[in-house]
Amino acid sequence: MKKVLSITLLVLILSFQSRADEGMWIPLFLGELNEAQMQAMGMKITADDIYSVNHASLKDAIVIFGGGCTGEVVSDQGLLLTNHHCGFRSIQKHSSLEHDYLTNGFWAMEKSDELPNPGLTVTFLVRMEEVTESVLDSVSANMSEAERNRIIDGHIKKIKEEAIKDTHYKAVIKPFFQGNRYFLFVNEIFEDVRLVGAPPSNIGKFGGDTDNWMWPRHTGDFSVFRIYADKDNNPAKYSEDNVPYKPKKHLSISLDGFNEGDFTFIFGYPGSTEEYIPSYAVDMTVNTINPIRISLRGKRLDVIKKYMDESRETRIQYAAKQAGISNGWKKWIGENKGIKRLHGIEKKQAFEKEFQNWAELPENNKYATLLSSFRETYDKLTPIEKNLYYIIEGGLGIEIIKYANSFSGLVNVSKSKDIDINKPEKTIERYKKSALSHFKDYQVPIDKEVFAVLFKSYYENTEKSEIPDEILKQIDKYKGDFELFANEVFKKSMFDSKDKIMTFLDDYKASHYKKIEKDPAYQIAAAFIRQYRTNYKARINVLNSKLDSLMRIYMEAQMEMQPNKLFYPDANFTLRVAYGNIMGYSPADAVTYNYFTTLEGIMEKEDPEIYDYVVEDKLKELYNNKDYGAYGNNGTMQVCFIANNHTTGGNSGSPVLDANGNLIGINFDRCWEGTMSDMFYDPDMSRNIMLDIRYCLFIIDKFAGAGHLVDEMTIVKKE
Ligand code: ARG
Ligand code: GLU
Repeated sequence: MKKVLSITLLVLILSFQSRADEGMWIPLFLGELNEAQMQAMGMKITADDIYSVNHASLKDAIVIFGGGCTGEVVSDQGLLLTNHHCGFRSIQKHSSLEHDYLTNGFWAMEKSDELPNPGLTVTFLVRMEEVTESVLDSVSANMSEAERNRIIDGHIKKIKEEAIKDTHYKAVIKPFFQGNRYFLFVNEIFEDVRLVGAPPSNIGKFGGDTDNWMWPRHTGDFSVFRIYADKDNNPAKYSEDNVPYKPKKHLSISLDGFNEGDFTFIFGYPGSTEEYIPSYAVDMTVNTINPIRISLRGKRLDVIKKYMDESRETRIQYAAKQAGISNGWKKWIGENKGIKRLHGIEKKQAFEKEFQNWAELPENNKYATLLSSFRETYDKLTPIEKNLYYIIEGGLGIEIIKYANSFSGLVNVSKSKDIDINKPEKTIERYKKSALSHFKDYQVPIDKEVFAVLFKSYYENTEKSEIPDEILKQIDKYKGDFELFANEVFKKSMFDSKDKIMTFLDDYKASHYKKIEKDPAYQIAAAFIRQYRTNYKARINVLNSKLDSLMRIYMEAQMEMQPNKLFYPDANFTLRVAYGNIMGYSPADAVTYNYFTTLEGIMEKEDPEIYDYVVEDKLKELYNNKDYGAYGNNGTMQVCFIANNHTTGGNSGSPVLDANGNLIGINFDRCWEGTMSDMFYDPDMSRNIMLDIRYCLFIIDKFAGAGHLVDEMTIVKKE
């Protein structure tokens, strides 16, 4: 008895050594590493209920939505929930002045009304497996990085082939712990995913960019899709004959709500974190890269906002672009503030001091030069990254330049005469299609202004020796008048007009590539790309490869130095579980935030003059009548809530599950004060923001009158 107890105690002590709230854990190891702690924190189900390959488990209801979000299956007919901002592109693509689904919302009242979205996929995980031994077989410590990679790539190719032999599955192998371990993921990808419903933007994006990344929040950030399969329930390209997919598992939804302190977990696809990097890397991000991104995006946003405020059409056209630019901009501001507040760089430096002492012990001597190698490498990398970011966020932030650059492919095939040999129509068709979609959402006056502003900033902040000659000459020619420069480029370029491009493509022949090469917008793009290829690319590759190797060793060393710490791998867009408790926080002296918001707050924020704060009459009517149906809680309608689950970009749309594994919310954001959690998780400030599932169902059922969708779902409610 005593022995059993002490083992249990040991497990508990071990698992409590890592913070309860921090971490994004591998589903495969929950039983071994986390289950006891999760249950001690309130979870009533088992690790096997969450992830199993032997029977249907919660993991069978979780998908990668598109290329960067998470979604969850909520009915036996393939109904899928994700965020409004994850479905935003699809909703926007179906929108026009006549059918403004962005502004008004969209609801398919019957399956035949559901809208196909070519290119949109959802990915189910069939199984995962650790393959470190096979991947690293015959790899040794003294190999060059190139040789190491060659061997690893060969192994990966073989393991993947074997894993999916005779199936329609796809395999991915990803490095974990900076390449110290490898995991295989076998996926099933569905390609017919249809839009079923989306609330109006003043619900789905309520508060817009003003409220984005902020708490208290009142955004109904959800949209509804459906997965279709062929008649055998297998993935298939869009076809009218496809039928709703029958999933192995769909989530049950709880209307019981929650209290502060309740256990929750998030099951989804966090994209990328960098918890174990050295101070030099943090320094480069905080003091070089983020300030460039913030400044250039801020300038771009000022211009776009002015035009969006002026016209409804512009607002629709630029909605998705603007949201993307602004999202990063605001996050990086928050990240920098958070790292400064936490003294993140100094904390890393203090750890590095300790590390260095440890590494200088004779038995750890192989790590003694790690940190100085890091410093040397970052000293070389930082100035190159600075130049590169001025090109990426500056030069290529100008749409006409970026668009012109997309024609380099056509120039290349034309020069090689490939185009005459390999079906020119197909290549040209592709360019025509992309022209139509590019110009659908493009306005010359906006881009011209952005051109002048970004070019000026690029010029003023880049050493003259780093600016390509042909660009310098132009700037000299216009005597530094960037508006004049912009005007001239737009006057002479064909890349500002759909008609010009379509006419050009209509009778395209290989020899016409010369016209592209003479185009001033293309010339600028080409000069930037050449600058990157000839002056930066090779150097960056060498330094990054060096850093990969240093990071792998540093990770290993950190684990060796802290043998009792339970490490979780950095996010790498693989399926993870984060768990914690529902709780508020204190963002500043004398301020405390409650852990949930309500419809009252929407009424308080209402402003009919501001697009993002308009409240629809229908919603007001429901509010005035307290007509909340089964979704209210003692006469209030709860909207969003927060917890200390460790999440990041990619976790958008992830299900929030309660102690019983029932769906209680959809993750969609983090609090601003906590956005540095990609590098520094702060238990006091890092909170993830979730939509209350009751508000989501209330909008579907009571607001949109699409109760048939709720009828499809499995609802649990204590009476
Ligand atoms: N901040 C959230 C995320 O990182 C939501 C972004 C979409 N909303 C917006 N207003 N741009 O994706
Ligand atoms: N909105 C983010 C996403 O699209 C989630 C917020 C975060 O970065 O945590 O994944």
